[in-house]
Amino acid sequence: MDPREFEQTLVLIKPDALKNSLTGYVLSQLSEFHTGLRFAGAKIVHVSRMLAEEHYAEHRGKVFFQSLLDYIMGCSHYPDEPWKRRVIALVYQGHHAIQKIRAISGPTNPHEARVKKPGCIRALGTVVPIKDAAGTVLDERMDNLIHASATVADAEREIKLWFKPSDIPPLMRAYPTEISQEHYYFKENKLLLQHEPESVCLLAPGNVAWASDLAVLRAIASGKTPSATLQSVVAKYLINEDVRYY
Ligand code: GTP
Ligand code: MG
Repeated sequence: MDPREFEQTLVLIKPDALKNSLTGYVLSQLSEFHTGLRFAGAKIVHVSRMLAEEHYAEHRGKVFFQSLLDYIMGCSHYPDEPWKRRVIALVYQGHHAIQKIRAISGPTNPHEARVKKPGCIRALGTVVPIKDAAGTVLDERMDNLIHASATVADAEREIKLWFKPSDIPPLMRAYPTEISQEHYYFKENKLLLQHEPESVCLLAPGNVAWASDLAVLRAIASGKTPSATLQSVVAKYLINEDVRYY
C-alpha cells in the first residue's frame, strides 16, 4: 500500500456553515467522488474554551484572538442559544489529503477567496468587523466556514487534539498508539493519578491513547518538562463531557 494513501487532515465545519445550512454543500465538495478521500473520523463537538485555545494556540496574543475563540466556540453565531453551539470535526484520509482540501477551501479571507478563487468553499464566507464598546472598528473576523490543516505537522497535532484513537477505526489510525498502564484524572487544571471527588477520568489501564499523549502525561506525573501542554492532551477527553468543563 502506498503510504501517501494514509495522509490525513483535520477538517472543521465551523458554526457559520452550520447556521447557514452549508454542511451538505461542504460534505459534497469534499466527497470521495470529488476528492478521492475517505472519512477516517467524524464527530459533533461543543467546543470548550480549552479546546479552542489549544486549536488556535499560534494566534494567542493577537488582536483577533478573542473573536476567533468566540467564533469557533459558536458564541458569535448562537449568542442566546448555547445548545446550538457546535462544529463538525472530520478526519479525511487519502492521497494528498492536506493539499487537496486546502485547495477546495481556498484563501483564509472570504473577500480574497471570491476574487482569487471563485467557487472555492470560503468564497461563500463573510468578513465581520470587530468593534469595541464605543463602536470603533478594531479588526475583522473572518467567518470562513471551514478549517483544514495546513501541513503534515499541523494535521498530526490537530487530529490528536480533537480525536482519541478510539474515535478512528483501528486500521485507519495514522499515529502511534499505546495502551495506558495507569489511571489519569483531571481536576481544576491539574493532573491526578488517583481519583478524587469531582475529578474526571482521562485514561484507565487498558485504554488506548496516542503514544505522544502518554509521554506528556508521564512527564507531568514525574515532574519533568512535557513536550506539550497538559491542556493539549486533556481537551479531547472533555469533548461533550459534563457542562461544567465549558
Ligand atoms: P484555518 O483553516 O481556520 O486554520 O485558517 P487558515 O489556516 O487559512 O488561517 P490561519 O491558520 O492563519 O488562521 C486561523 C483563523 O484565524 C482563520 O481562519 C481566520 O479566521 C483567523 N485569522 C488568521 N489571520 C488573521 C488576521 O490576520 N486577521 C484576522 N482578523 N483573522 C485572522
Ligand atoms: Mg490554519
